[in-house]
Amino acid sequence: MALLDLTRFGRAAPRFLDMAPAQADFARAVIDGLSRPEKQLPCAFFYDSIGSALFDKICDTPEYYPTRTEISILRDDGEAIAQRLGRAVQLVELGSGSSLKVRLLLNQLEAPMGYVGLDISRDHLRMACERLAADYPTLEVTAICADYHDEVPIPPPRDGMPRRRVGFFPGSTLGNLTPPHAEAFLARWRHVLRFGGTEGGGMLIGIDLRKDPAILEAAYDDAAGITATFNLNLLARINRELDGNFNLAAFRHLALWDADRGCMSMYLVSRLNQIVRVADQRFAFLEGEAIHTEDSFKYTIEGFQAMARRAGYTPAAVWTDPDGLFSLHWLEA
Ligand code: TRP
Repeated sequence: MALLDLTRFGRAAPRFLDMAPAQADFARAVIDGLSRPEKQLPCAFFYDSIGSALFDKICDTPEYYPTRTEISILRDDGEAIAQRLGRAVQLVELGSGSSLKVRLLLNQLEAPMGYVGLDISRDHLRMACERLAADYPTLEVTAICADYHDEVPIPPPRDGMPRRRVGFFPGSTLGNLTPPHAEAFLARWRHVLRFGGTEGGGMLIGIDLRKDPAILEAAYDDAAGITATFNLNLLARINRELDGNFNLAAFRHLALWDADRGCMSMYLVSRLNQIVRVADQRFAFLEGEAIHTEDSFKYTIEGFQAMARRAGYTPAAVWTDPDGLFSLHWLEA
């Protein structure tokens, strides 16, 4: 009996692979982070459904220039970028979110052999990939719910070997890792990207650039307070999922430029002395005590390229906006 070849009727249904970290990991990470002398919470947990939606709203604020600027680069230089990547590539997007930026790339690429969206936010990912598959009916779309810091096996396209595998890592998300971790992360993905093809793999990666700290601090503390809500949602999520009793009004969002480390640092600062319960554990906070929630490192073009080289890549092209706010790098793996 012949099997029905669904691909001939379009591929509107993406394949979905679930490798999400277990809920126990969230609990363990929260308890561990709040037990430290300098309290911290890991930033991967920002992105539940509410957090992902809030992040999309941050991207629309007038102060948060990275998204808008990266999109303008993809628009203005899309043709040159697509030419660099070449035809018949398999695109693997790390932290695909709403999968909007990749459309600008897909619109320019010649006969891409597949798109793999990888994100920690399961429902957001699923919806985004379904929309993408509907809008690009000839494209093979795969959604993988996973933490891209883990070893994630990437399936090859069903139709055979791509000419090259290309990692797409926009949004300067690499900046959320400390430089040594960022370098190790790049080195690890290089081996995944070198798969297949005759052309060798590559990575197209967005990196936010150093600039006037006033612009940076505004970008991470918008006047409408959406970034503050996004940061505080981490506490709300702990309340929802881990039976916590954080009073959100008793914490405030703080975003500071750290000139020594070259990063924006995000905190949630206790407004008073208080005791908070998470599951069956209690944590004491002093007035003014901070939970460190995220760093966002900013690079110079030369500084980033040097790191990419140390991770084994050849930086082969870079595109920026006219104001030099943001950069998009093509790294050969
Ligand atoms: N990856 C984003 C960035 O570093 C995340 C982000 C934007 C963020 N605004 C934030 C994280 C505020 C915590 C708080 O630009």
